[in-house]
Amino acid sequence: MYKIPANTLFMGQQLVFMSECHSTNSEVQHLLGENSAEGVVVITNNQTRGRGQQGNTWESKPDMNLTFSIGLRPHFLEAKDHFYLSMAVSLGLYDWLCRMMPDTAIHVKWPNDLMANKRKICGILIENQVQGNRIVQSIVGIGLNVNQRSFMLQTATSMSLCTGKEFPLDPLLTNVLEHLEARYLQLRAGEQARILQQYEHALFWRHEEHVFSASGRVFLGTITGIDADGRLIIQTESGIKAFGFKEVAYHK
Ligand code: BTN
Repeated sequence: MYKIPANTLFMGQQLVFMSECHSTNSEVQHLLGENSAEGVVVITNNQTRGRGQQGNTWESKPDMNLTFSIGLRPHFLEAKDHFYLSMAVSLGLYDWLCRMMPDTAIHVKWPNDLMANKRKICGILIENQVQGNRIVQSIVGIGLNVNQRSFMLQTATSMSLCTGKEFPLDPLLTNVLEHLEARYLQLRAGEQARILQQYEHALFWRHEEHVFSASGRVFLGTITGIDADGRLIIQTESGIKAFGFKEVAYHK
């Protein structure tokens, strides 16, 4: 399985398939420690201890979805700009999902969830290693719901639920890696402003009034964009405010 070579410069050129593992992020961590080249990918059919954002777990039924991680060495990126990598990865997935499911509304929910028809279809866990002011290593873990049709969480969805189709996983991986590499190369070429602009364009709830909470307060606000530090900008009744990670939550 996963034998179709990606049409990429480096992403997925070294591809390790494991029928089962605890976490593909941990497996890539080992490979990078053993000096694997940038772009190494580990993919599994059964991830038994998948990690999610903010210490959560990531559950994925065996053989149904894409659970994989990519090892990167983005030395060109300063630690303070780490959110640009997150935006580039989100946009690579966004580009690809829009192409795969043209009749589905796809958005990026800040900071880095992919939404399809207002439900979460894909999660990203990026683990960076910083030396001095540079990011020397980055492990990009992606959990993409493909053929799974029932979830514990009502807020989750999959490509199959959105389209009514089943997707063979092997060609999907090849294709998604090509889109991810294209955005990574755009970032490496210094096109940060464009990435920020396109990320804003893809934002979930942008220019719509919704309920948020922050510091124990519930308030009405409208997302207007992202600032240069990756904070979410919300127009509230008491003015424009910028929120960092974990400082604001979305309400229904
Ligand atoms: C989230 O909480 O939304 C992020 C989920 C990230 C899950 C992926 S699956 C592949 C990789 N390995 C892990 O242990 N986690 C990531």
